[in-house]
Parts: sequence; C-alpha cells; structure tokens
Amino acid sequence: MGIFQFLFFFFLLFTLYTPMSVHANTELRSLMELKTSLDPTNKVLESWKSDGDPCSGSFVGVACNEHRKVANISLQGKGLSGQVSPAIAGLKCLSGLYLHYNSLSGEIPKELSDLQELTDLYLNDNNLSGTIPPHIGNMAALQVVDLCCNQLTGNIPTEIGDLKGLSVLSLQRNRLDGKIPASLGNLVMLRRLDLSYNRLFGEIPTTLANILQLETLDVRNNTLYGNVPSGLKRLNGGFLGDNNRGLCGTGFPTLRVCSRFDNMNINQLEPFQSDLNDTVPGVNSHIVHNQGHCNHTHCSNPLRFPKLPIITGIITVGFVCCISCNFPLP
Ligand SMILES: *[C@@H]1O[C@H](CO)[C@@H](O)[C@H](O)[C@H]1NC(C)=O
Ligand SMILES: *[C@@H]1O[C@H](CO)[C@@H](O)[C@H](O)[C@H]1NC(C)=O
Ligand SMILES: *[C@@H]1O[C@H](CO)[C@@H](O)[C@H](O)[C@H]1NC(C)=O
Ligand SMILES: *[C@@H]1O[C@H](CO)[C@@H](O)[C@H](O)[C@H]1NC(C)=O
Ligand SMILES: *[C@@H]1O[C@H](CO)[C@@H](O)[C@H](O)[C@H]1NC(C)=O
Repeated sequence: MGIFQFLFFFFLLFTLYTPMSVHANTELRSLMELKTSLDPTNKVLESWKSDGDPCSGSFVGVACNEHRKVANISLQGKGLSGQVSPAIAGLKCLSGLYLHYNSLSGEIPKELSDLQELTDLYLNDNNLSGTIPPHIGNMAALQVVDLCCNQLTGNIPTEIGDLKGLSVLSLQRNRLDGKIPASLGNLVMLRRLDLSYNRLFGEIPTTLANILQLETLDVRNNTLYGNVPSGLKRLNGGFLGDNNRGLCGTGFPTLRVCSRFDNMNINQLEPFQSDLNDTVPGVNSHIVHNQGHCNHTHCSNPLRFPKLPIITGIITVGFVCCISCNFPLP
C-alpha cells in the first residue's frame, strides 16, 4: 500500500469514528503555530500540547464554544515575549482575543482580518510596531479595539470607519501620525474614542460630532489645530483636547477662543510670509473670505472641507464562517 493510500485510509477511519477531529486538528495546528510565535521560550504555554484537546480546559487561556471551536484566547499579563502569528487566522470562530499587558513585538498581522466573528481585540500595552492594517475594516463583528500603548506608526486607516458595531476605539500612546479620518464619524455605536499621545495632525473632523453615542473623545497631546467642532460641546468633560498647539473653540473650558489666524493653519503649506500684509485688518478681504466668517473673537462658520465622497465599501458578511460556527455538528 502506497503512502497516499495509507494516509487516505487513515483519514477515512478518522472522519468515520471521530467526525470532529478534522476541524479540531485544523484549530489545533493553528494553536500550535500561535504558541511557537507568542511564547518562543515555551514557558507560558507549555500546556498547549500538540496531542492535547484545546477544548478540554487543559490549554491555559483557551475557551471553546458549545461547538467545540476556540472562542476566546485570554492570555493577558502572562509575560509573553514573542509575536502574533498570522496563524491566528485559522481560529475562525474566535470572538475574543485578549493579549494585552505582555511584551509582544512585531506587527499586527493583516491575516487577523479573517476573524469575522471577533468582537473583542485587546492588544494594548505591548511593544507592537508597524502600521494598523487597513484590513481591520473588514472585521464586521468588532466592538472593542484596544491597541493602546504600543509603538504603532503610520495613519489611522480610513477603513476603521466601516466597523459599524465598534463601541470603543483606543489608539492612544502610539506614534500614529496623519489626520484623524473623517470616516470615523460613521461609527454610530462609538462611545469612546481615545487618540491621545500620538502625533496626529490637522483638524478634528466635524463628522465626529455626528456620533450620538459618543461620550469620550480624548485627543490630548497631538499636533491638532483649528476649530473644535461646536457639536462636541455636549460631551462636556468628555472632550479632552489639552496640549495641542493649535486647537481652539468657543464654549470649551480648556480651549482658547479661536482667532482669525487659526484657520490659516489649514493652508499651512502656503508661505505665511507672503500673506503678511493681507492680515492687516480691513486692508484686504481676501483671507477673511477664504476663512468663512471669522473675526478676531469669533468663528461663526468654520471652514469646512468638501464632503468626502461616500466610501462604498464592499459589504462582505462572513456568512461562511457564521454557518461553520453555528451549524450544529453531526
Ligand atoms: C469569551 O469571553 C467573553 C468575555 O470575557 C465571555 O463573555 C464569553 O463567555 C467567553 N466565551 C467562552 C466560550 O468562554
Ligand atoms: C520594544 O521594541 C523596541 C524595538 O522595536 C526595542 O528597542 C525595545 O527594547 C522594546 N521594548 C520592550 C520593553 O520590549
Ligand atoms: C504632553 O504635552 C505636554 C505639553 O506639550 C508636554 O509637556 C508633555 O511632556 C506631553 N506628555 C507626553 C507624555 O508626551
Ligand atoms: C507689504 O507692503 C509694503 C508696503 O505696501 C511692501 O513694501 C512690502 O514689500 C509688503 N510685504 C510683503 C511681504 O508683501
Ligand atoms: C465677530 O462675529 C460675531 C458673529 O459673527 C459678532 O457677534 C461679533 O461682534 C464679532 N466681533 C468683532 C470684534 O467683530
């Protein structure tokens, strides 16, 4: 008997007598790969054994659902010093990934976006670097994303605005730069948005004031400028904007009132010097016009960016995974 026939026979036996083992093996394989990368010294995840049963309760931090699929990985504060492997994508029914308070390094794998059931993503307080993968915008089930306190760089992906169920987005204390995407205003369920202690630049998009559920918006210690949208006044103490050189607004206790010079920052790339004479009040109406309706103490109609074209994302709901996760096993 050739090796192929032998394996096939073996496989048949396996599927006939233990129908769940094929699925379980796929998940077990992913777990073993994950283990090697998360815990290269094998001090923390010794209990994850390649001949073990992840759903027996013997694998530290692993919890399965009623269909014997891995549903949660809870390894917060375990002293993990490795990386997050793309093999995580093999755990198709994962709903919670809790890897915060470790010393994980490397990048957030883009394969994470295959996890269509994931509601809770906690990678905060590690040493992760690289950018936030834009693919995260495909993870339709996400409710909490906490990436705080890492060393992430680059922009906040516009695609995060596609996560319609997101209620908490914590990106503070990284090295993110670029602008706050206006698409975040589409996050209708968002209660808490923390972008503080980054290197974000530009204005706070007026779209953020459209989020009715929003309770907290923390943008402290960035390099933001311009008018804070007046609609955010209803957050009261929930709006935190200290230590942004250029932020201003009317009716915010911690912000100075805007002057006509604040909106000029919008055109920061234009040489300021050449406009010096224009800034003499009354001499030239050019800038006043450009700014909308600003005078020394008041901006009644802050300059708005043109409405962004509606992003028509392809809505790919993970039906396949839903079926495989919830379909009763034979
Ligand atoms: C996964 O974790 C969440 C949050 O801690 C919990 O509510 C849920 O019951 C857990 N699921 C399983 C299968 O243990
Ligand atoms: C975090 O990663 C950087 C390199 O990216 C390294 O220099 C630093 O020592 C790491 N810090 C910790 C606490 O692991
Ligand atoms: C926050 O900003 C203030 C004022 O610019 C600065 O003194 C402080 O060091 C910053 N804090 C951090 C943690 O960057
Ligand atoms: C400002 O105006 C004065 C007098 O009209 C002129 O001499 C000077 O070159 C102008 N400066 C700039 C920066 O345009
Ligand atoms: C600025 O504009 C506001 C409203 O447009 C007006 O009430 C206020 O008196 C103006 N202030 C000055 C100094 O022109």
